[in-house]
Amino acid sequence: YELRAVNSCAPAADAETARVEVEMSVRRPTGFLWGTATAGYQVEGGITGNDWHFFTSTPEIVHRVHELGAFRDFDLNLVPAGEAVQHGSAFVAMSDVLRSRLAGANAYRFSVEWSRVERVPGEVDRAALDYYVSLVELLIRQGVEPVVTLNHLALPLWASKAPVKSKGSLPGFPAVADDSDAGHQASLRGWENGVTVDRWIAFVRLVVGRLSRAGVRFWITLNEPVGSVVGVGYIAGVWPPGFSLEGGKAQAAYKNLLRAHVRAYRAIKEIDPAARVGLAHQMAYYKPSSAPNPLGDNVAAANQEDYFYNWHFLDAATSGTVDVKFARRPADRVYESSDVFFQIPAADWMPTLDFVGVNYYRAIYAYHDAVVSNKAGFIGGGFVDAESTSLTTGVGWEVYPDGLLAILTRIRDDYQLPVLITENGLSEPGDTHRAPYLVAHLDQLRRAMDDGVDVLGYLVWTVVDNYEWQYGFEPKAHFGLWTVDRGRRDAYGAHARAMTAGALAFRQVAD
Ligand code: NOJ
Repeated sequence: YELRAVNSCAPAADAETARVEVEMSVRRPTGFLWGTATAGYQVEGGITGNDWHFFTSTPEIVHRVHELGAFRDFDLNLVPAGEAVQHGSAFVAMSDVLRSRLAGANAYRFSVEWSRVERVPGEVDRAALDYYVSLVELLIRQGVEPVVTLNHLALPLWASKAPVKSKGSLPGFPAVADDSDAGHQASLRGWENGVTVDRWIAFVRLVVGRLSRAGVRFWITLNEPVGSVVGVGYIAGVWPPGFSLEGGKAQAAYKNLLRAHVRAYRAIKEIDPAARVGLAHQMAYYKPSSAPNPLGDNVAAANQEDYFYNWHFLDAATSGTVDVKFARRPADRVYESSDVFFQIPAADWMPTLDFVGVNYYRAIYAYHDAVVSNKAGFIGGGFVDAESTSLTTGVGWEVYPDGLLAILTRIRDDYQLPVLITENGLSEPGDTHRAPYLVAHLDQLRRAMDDGVDVLGYLVWTVVDNYEWQYGFEPKAHFGLWTVDRGRRDAYGAHARAMTAGALAFRQVAD
């Protein structure tokens, strides 16, 4: 953006009140979007009306999730976000935006927290909406392009599915959440229920109407619907709603997320035909686990997981048709899918992506897991985060920059769409690997651009350490270019922030 004063002092009517008229000519950045990304519940603080707050502050759920974590050898720390990193204070948000600016950013991705704007169903909380309007205005004044996410995992409690009880267990798994609908009469049961989609679309219209007037042009409908909402929420079960593989519920959620994306795309375009709309898709590089697997074929498992997690949703959103039987890539179809659940009236469909938002972090090792494939049907397979020889991050993810190039070139070949890297980054308790991690990934990004991939921009996850879901604020889950010490306050009473080498590297590349 370029602000230009074109008119200075008009002659004063009376000497005491000289009038200054300033006309602003705003020129948008036309170049590469270069910035950082955050999400409401992870940074703002003071959010208590969503499923994440409920999930993390209900002892029985916390206990069960910790059991699951121990079972998979994860050291979890499920706590509510509490005051997070105080980004909900306009002052702190401004200071973090300025930090991004210092690192050379001209773009900033954030999410609008539905449970704040519509705390009570059907009622708009004007003050909450105004906070986001001010944030957009601040960004634009600073020359930063806002990229706005309309759902980043959390749902208002009234719209969510938050299981309370545990019951039985899957063979080979610890306790499982109560899959029945008992106890959910008062809520909409999350993405399993088409009514949640209707309600979310009303929220999308409200937010897009207001924030596009404030100057937002880039929209992300959903964040990681497949990898996070279905994968971690319904299959791994450590995120809300926590295991619901019975009765086609994961499938229903998946289908509704597809519809939600399609309808949000249309709604946004109706409001602003020039808007650029994508989704932030979790994409990882799937490798077959080298562990011997008497149950099945790990190469096939890797192909299947790659297809389901990386491509199936994008195929639907780009082509406007759903590969109901998972048959489009027959070589990848290892498990039986439960066919008909994808039956969606054809009229609901059309190509609905202006760009592909890619959240890329790592490689994943797939293995054939009969239990999961039987229960989850269409998804199948199990995975491990890393193999013993791998270079891993603080949360145990394998670092694999080459995977980014492979994924981006496939997007180019299959969809001929631009991509926006909506997230990429590394977590660690210290400050050793972040800079080389970012540089290695940027190197692959440059190669992709040299190979003709149309890249709109690159957004680091994240500007300041924040609430990392099932790991809370654990140092090993620190993803920030600035590290945050929540135990210390700065002169203004905010949690102390300190720059990392990652921020310096980011700044240098920007130069
Ligand atoms: C993806 C999610 O969108 C974000 O919320 C999360 O913090 C990062 N990955 C890091 O795990």
